Amino acid sequence: MTATIPSAIGQPLDRVDGPAKVSGSARYSAEIPLPAMAYAYVVGSRIAAGRVTGIDTSAALAEEGVLAVLTQQTLPKIAEQPPLVPSLAGTAAPGQTFFPMQDDTVHYAGQPIALVVADTWERAQYAARLLRVSYAETPPVTTLDQGRDLSYEPERIFGGWIPGRIERGNVEAGLREADVRVEGTYTYAANNHNPIEPSCTTAQWDGDNLLLYDATQGVNATQMTVSRLLGVPMSKIRVIGHYAGGSFGCKAMIHAHPTLAAMAARAVGRPVKLVLTREQMFTSVGHREEQEQHLTLGATRDGRLTAIRHHKLSPTSHFDDWAEPSVGVSSQIYACPHYEGVYRLFRANTMTPTFMRAPGEASGMYALECALDELAHELGIDPIELRLRNHTDVDAMTGLPWSSSGLKECYERGAQRFGWAGRDPRPGSRRDGNWLIGTGMATACYPVAPLANPQRARARLYADGTAVVQAATPDFGTGVATVMTQVAADGLGLSVDRCRFENGDTDLPNIAAAVGSAGAGMISAAVHSAATALRSQLIRSAVGDPGSPLHGADPVDVVVRDGVMTAGTASESYSDLLRRTFQPDVEAAGQWNPPAHDIPYATMTFGAQFAEVAVDAELGLVRVRRMTGAFAPGRVLNPKTARSQLMGGMLWGLGQALLEANHMQPDTGRWVNASLGEYLVPVNADAPDVDVELIEVEDDIVNPLGVKGVGEIGQVGAAAAIANAVHHATGRRVRKLPIMIEDLL
Ligand code: MOS
Repeated sequence: MTATIPSAIGQPLDRVDGPAKVSGSARYSAEIPLPAMAYAYVVGSRIAAGRVTGIDTSAALAEEGVLAVLTQQTLPKIAEQPPLVPSLAGTAAPGQTFFPMQDDTVHYAGQPIALVVADTWERAQYAARLLRVSYAETPPVTTLDQGRDLSYEPERIFGGWIPGRIERGNVEAGLREADVRVEGTYTYAANNHNPIEPSCTTAQWDGDNLLLYDATQGVNATQMTVSRLLGVPMSKIRVIGHYAGGSFGCKAMIHAHPTLAAMAARAVGRPVKLVLTREQMFTSVGHREEQEQHLTLGATRDGRLTAIRHHKLSPTSHFDDWAEPSVGVSSQIYACPHYEGVYRLFRANTMTPTFMRAPGEASGMYALECALDELAHELGIDPIELRLRNHTDVDAMTGLPWSSSGLKECYERGAQRFGWAGRDPRPGSRRDGNWLIGTGMATACYPVAPLANPQRARARLYADGTAVVQAATPDFGTGVATVMTQVAADGLGLSVDRCRFENGDTDLPNIAAAVGSAGAGMISAAVHSAATALRSQLIRSAVGDPGSPLHGADPVDVVVRDGVMTAGTASESYSDLLRRTFQPDVEAAGQWNPPAHDIPYATMTFGAQFAEVAVDAELGLVRVRRMTGAFAPGRVLNPKTARSQLMGGMLWGLGQALLEANHMQPDTGRWVNASLGEYLVPVNADAPDVDVELIEVEDDIVNPLGVKGVGEIGQVGAAAAIANAVHHATGRRVRKLPIMIEDLL
C-alpha cells in the first residue's frame, strides 16, 4: 500500500463542540433541567480549627421551601473512605482522606458543616444564613512562617506516588568540587484554579440507581469514588459529564460535593443540584499549596553543574501527605553527578492541596530555572549556552535515554524567533523611554504521564457511511473531542464530517481521566485502535465475500478513502457492503495498554520559553511585552487546538509570575481574596503577543501515534523566563512569585 491518503490528523480543524458551546445548546452539569429539582447549598465552617459545638437549624427549617438541613447529626455516615490516589490511576480518587460531617472536628475554614436543601437556590442560600452555629475555636496554623518549626520529612507524597527524598551521588561532595555556588530561597504563593465553570453536580435517584451529572475530568473516577463512599455498586451509578467549563486540575480529584449531592437527593427524594460558589471554589476543590523552595547549585568555572540541592517546604492537611512534586524534574533534565531533593511538610489547617496545571513542574522549574539564570549571570555565560553545557540525552536520575527530546531544537528555534542573539547580558542595559527592558529564558519540560491502566474505545459504522466513536473521557475545554474526531476519521478512512466522537459518560468504554497532559496520547491510542480494528474488520468482510467487487483481494492492498475501499481497480464503499449484507451497523472495540513502567526509556516533553518585559523605572510596574515558546510535543494532532493549549499555558505563566496569589489571613486561617475580583488573573489587556512554535519530533515509544501532550508544558518555565527578564531589566532578583510592584520599588 503506497497511496498517500489525505490525513485529518495534523489539520487545524475547528472545535467540533464549538457551535454547541457558542449557541448555548451545550448543557453543562448545572444546566440539566429535571422535574422537581431541589437545590443544595453547602455551608462552610467560619473557623479554621476547633469543633462545631452546635447548629440550631430550627429557623432555617421553618423557612418556606426548605426541604432539609443535613449536618453531622443527620448526614449519613460514609460507607468507606477510599485512599488518596491520583485520579488518573483508574481508581477512586477522593481528593482527600477526610469526608465532612462525620464528626464535629473542624480542620480548615470552609470545611462543609451543613447542607441546606430547598426548592430554589435562593431559598437554600437564604436559609443557610439562618443557621446558628457555635464553635469551640483553637488557633489555626496555615502559613509557612507558622509551620516551619513543625515540619517533618514525609516518606511519600502526591497520593503515595512519589518518594519524599530523591538522591544520587553525594551532594556535599559535589558542592565542595564546585568553583561557584549559587543559593537562594524561592517562595511561591498559594494559587487557585478558577475555571469559568465552578464545580457542580446534579444528582438523581431512580430507585436505587443513581445518575450524576458532574463537572469532572474523569467520569469513571467520579463513579468509583461515589460508589465507595456511598457503598452503592458501580453498576448502579452512571456519571455523565458532557461538558466542563475549564478545570486545570480542580476537577481531577473527586471532592466531597458529588457525594453530598447524591446524599441530599436521597434525603429529600428529589433530584438535587449542587453548585459551589466562587468563594467555595477556594476551599472545596484543592489548590496549589504555598511553598518555599531552597535551591543550591554548584558548578565548575566553565559552567558544568557539580551538584543540585532542591528542598521544598509546604503545608499539607491534617490527614494527607500532599505536596506537588516540585522537586521531581530538577533531578532529571540536566547532567549533574550529585543531587538531593527533599520535601518537608507541616500539618496545617487546610484541605489537602491538589493538582493544578503542571502540578510540581510549574513551581519546581520556576525555582530551578531562576537559579540557573543566577548561575549564568555569576559565570558570565549566556543562559542558553549554560543549559547546553549541561544538556543530557538521558534522564539524569535513571540514566535511561529519552524516548525523544527535541530540546536543543527548541532552544535554537525559540532563540531565533525571539531574537535572542546579540543580547547584552548586563542588567539595566536596555531602555525604552522610562521603561527598563529585559529578556529572559527558561527550559520547559513536562513528563509524558507514565500511566498503566488500559485504555478502551469503541467504533461503530452505520450503513449510511457515518460513524460514531466512543470513549468515556470528558473534554473540559482542551479539544479532546475535536482531535479524537480526527484520529477516528483517519483510522476509519472517513472524512471528519462523517465521524462523531461521543464522550463524557460512564456507559462508554473506560478511559483515563483527562489529566496529566495524557489525554491526547492515551485516548488517541485507544480511539486509533478501535477505528483501525473496525476498518480491518470491514476490509476482511469485503475481501472474503464473493458478492463484493473486492472479493479475493489481499487485505493489505486495500486502501480506504472517504469510506470507499479500493484495491487496484476494484472498489466498494462501506455503505454498499453493509447494505448488501443487511447490517444496519458494525462495531469494533479497541484497547491500548500503555507501556509498562520498566521500559528502557524515560519519557519527557521539552520546550524553551522566552519573555521580554518592560519595567517602569520609578513605579515598578511590570509589563510583559512578548513571549515566545518553542515546544516539541511529539505528533501534533491539531495545530490549532495545540497552539491554543500552549498559548493558554504561557499566559497562565504570566499570571503565575505577576498576578496570582491566594492571600491567607493567619489569625483566622481564611483566604482573604476568595473571589475573581481580588484573585488576579491575566486579562486580555495583560496579554502580550504570544508566539508558539511547534518543533517536530518523532516518538514511537510513548504511544502508537507518538503524541506527547500539550496540556501543561506551556506553563512550565514561563514564569521563570519572566522573572529572569525582570532581573535583566532591573538588576533585581526577586525570588518570589508573584512579583509585585512593591517588590521592585
Ligand atoms: Mo491536570 S493539573 O493533571 O488535572
